[in-house]
Amino acid sequence: MSLSYFEIVGGNRLRGNVRIGGAKNAALPIMAASILCDGEIILHDVPNVADVNSLCELLRKLGVDADRREDGALRLIVRDEMNCRAEYDIVRKMRASICVLGPLLGKRRKVQVSMPGGCAIGDRPVDLHLRAMEKLGAEVELVSGDIVAKAKKLKGCEMFLGGPFGSTVLGTGNAMMAATLAEGVTVIEMAACEPEVVDLANFLNKCGAKITGQGTPRITVEGVKQLKGCEYRIIPDRIEAGTFMVAAAITNGEIKIENCRLDHLMAFVDRLAAVGVSVEKTDFGCIVSSARRLEPIEVTTQPFPGFPTDLQAQLMSLLCLADGNSIVTEKIFPDRFMHMPELNRMGARLRREGATVVVQGVKKLVGAPVMASDLRASAALVLAGLSARGVTKVNRIYHLLRGYERMEDKLRALGAEITRKEGGQAGDD
Ligand code: EPZ
Repeated sequence: MSLSYFEIVGGNRLRGNVRIGGAKNAALPIMAASILCDGEIILHDVPNVADVNSLCELLRKLGVDADRREDGALRLIVRDEMNCRAEYDIVRKMRASICVLGPLLGKRRKVQVSMPGGCAIGDRPVDLHLRAMEKLGAEVELVSGDIVAKAKKLKGCEMFLGGPFGSTVLGTGNAMMAATLAEGVTVIEMAACEPEVVDLANFLNKCGAKITGQGTPRITVEGVKQLKGCEYRIIPDRIEAGTFMVAAAITNGEIKIENCRLDHLMAFVDRLAAVGVSVEKTDFGCIVSSARRLEPIEVTTQPFPGFPTDLQAQLMSLLCLADGNSIVTEKIFPDRFMHMPELNRMGARLRREGATVVVQGVKKLVGAPVMASDLRASAALVLAGLSARGVTKVNRIYHLLRGYERMEDKLRALGAEITRKEGGQAGDD
């Protein structure tokens, strides 16, 4: 693992245009769905980020050829269906590897996937994924830390996929993928409504699946005999777009964001408006600019269409500079606050009470060496660094590279003083 870090000299107002890439969290399950398909799949706008590369590596082990064409499109085609096992080594690196569970069971009728552990954002159970596989008729057991699921055939069913924290995004994806090749009709109740789930369903339909209701809590999948490959473009990454919106706001800048769908960011834009940030719709995106004074707000993360947990950390960086006290409550991953102590090192005044953080606005943040802990926390620290007085060193940016493509280049093109350097602190993991 390369230990690179970002050095940021804060204070520049960001101005200019930025193009948002394809959504990592839509691309990953869609790539995994290649396991279900006969024939070639061409995917456009798959971001070139570490998580995508890790999944390509896993897919190759599972007998899927995965290569980038010269034009950047990702080409996937199943070559061999023998291996059905995703080992700990790769699942440990990337929890989203769990999204091969549904397609492997659906197509190959057996699967062995290492049980994912927790991660920096907290406990991450997969009970709902397993419940879905069982409902479809699979026998599921845990053998030496691996989930082993088998089925002679899968049968359509009705399933309820709600848990204590609401719906599950990848769990809904797994259920949908396994059900596409099952016999009969499957109804998924309390399905996740996230745009990434809709994108997966649209992709599967283009391959020949019969899915309706995507984007609502009830998804119906009518089983088909075969899925074929197709050519498909991944939706824009709403989280990358939201991150650049905060970059504009936190530097009092003005950024034109291209390839961004505001209908995927309603709750986020609503909260930005309450803070006093202007988001003006354009043909292919929006222009974001900020008033000098930032209002304090209350915000609670929720499943889509609510405020996304994946933008909680970034918004918190902005709220550090609001004129008053804000309240941020995390309802999806109640421990997802690893950025908080690091922001405090930069002069923020944050106090946590359970799943809520009280953000006492300060006049300025000051540069400091800080440690990234997960993907979105890293982005929050970069944003804080852009606005801070002095130099911020964001260590361990390998977290950030998992999900943001060329972030430093994009920020530099907008006028930020940010450099990627080799070295940095290892520290405890
Ligand atoms: C997806 O993870 C995303 N990852 C996450 O993005 C995102 O934070 C999350 O959805 C929520 O929006 C990908 O798409 C690759 P969940 P996922 O299952 O599907 C509980 C990022 O930064 N739960 O929707 O794994 C769970 O603990 C990442 O890009 C169960 O109880 O999340 C959580 O509280 C991080 N049992 C809630 O549901 C289960 O079996 C939602 O999690 C599964 C989940």
